[in-house]
Amino acid sequence: MDDEEAKLRELQYVNLAWNTPLTADHADRLLDHLDIRPKSRILDLGCGWGELLLRALAKVPDSSGVGIDTDKLALDRGRKNAASRGLSGRVRFASANLPRVRSTAERVICIGASHAWGGTESALRAVRRHLSPRGRILFGDGFWIGPPSPQLVGMFGDLQPSLADLVTHATAAGFRPLFADTATDAEWDDFEWGTYRGLEEFALDGRPAALASKARERADLRRSEYLDGYRGRLGFAYLVLAST
Ligand SMILES: C[S@@+](CC[C@H](N)C(=O)[O-])C[C@H]1O[C@@H](n2cnc3c(N)ncnc32)[C@H](O)[C@@H]1O
Repeated sequence: MDDEEAKLRELQYVNLAWNTPLTADHADRLLDHLDIRPKSRILDLGCGWGELLLRALAKVPDSSGVGIDTDKLALDRGRKNAASRGLSGRVRFASANLPRVRSTAERVICIGASHAWGGTESALRAVRRHLSPRGRILFGDGFWIGPPSPQLVGMFGDLQPSLADLVTHATAAGFRPLFADTATDAEWDDFEWGTYRGLEEFALDGRPAALASKARERADLRRSEYLDGYRGRLGFAYLVLAST
C-alpha cells in the first residue's frame, strides 16, 4: 500500500469505533452474551484495530487477548489504543493470514472476516477449530436482505440469503446458537457516513490539493456504492454460538 492509499484508509476509519455497523450499546450486549469469564483467553480473528477485543478485556478482570489481522496500520492503532488504556500487558496484536492461524481460546471474536476462508460455511468450520471445548464465539457476517444484483454479488461475494440460513449453517458446523441479531438501518448509516465524513472533512480543508481531490473522489464512490447499491439490501448479523 502506498502512502496516499494509507492516508485515504486512515481517513475512512478515523471516525469509526470499529469497522462494522455497531453501536456501543449493541456491542456491550453482544459481549454480555459472550459471557467472558475471568482469566479467559480471547482470540479476535480479523480484529482490525481490535476495539471490541479491548472493550472485552477492559470488562473482564485477568482476561487476556490476541488480535490477528494482516492490516498493519490497523494493528498499530490497536497497539496504541491498548497502551493508552493500560491494556498492553494483556493483549498482543499479530500480523498473520487467518487460514494459517492455529491458536485456540475459550472465547473467539470473528467479525466481518469470513471471506478470509472463502465464505460463511468454510469460515464457520474454520473458526470452530479455534474454540476450546465449551467455548463461545461472537461471529459477525453479512447476508442478503432480498435477492442481490450481480453487481452486489461481485462486491460482496456469495452471502447467505437470510439470517435464518446463517443460523442453520452455524448449527450444521457444530455450534449451538445462543443469540442472534442484526445491525439496524441506523447502525449502517452511522457506519457508512462515518467513513465518508473522514474523507469529506479532509477534502474540505483542501490541503494538499491532489490528496483532497482523491479523498473527495473516494467519498463519492463509496457513498454511491452504498446509496445506489447495498443500503437496505446487505444485512449484517451478529451470532453468539457455543461449541458442542
Ligand atoms: C470488516 S473488517 C472487521 C474488523 C474488525 N473485526 C472489526 O469489527 O472492527 C475485516 C477485517 O478482516 C481482516 N482480514 C481479511 N482477510 C484477512 C486474512 N486473510 N487474514 C487476516 N486478516 C484478514 C481485514 O484486514 C479487516 O481488518
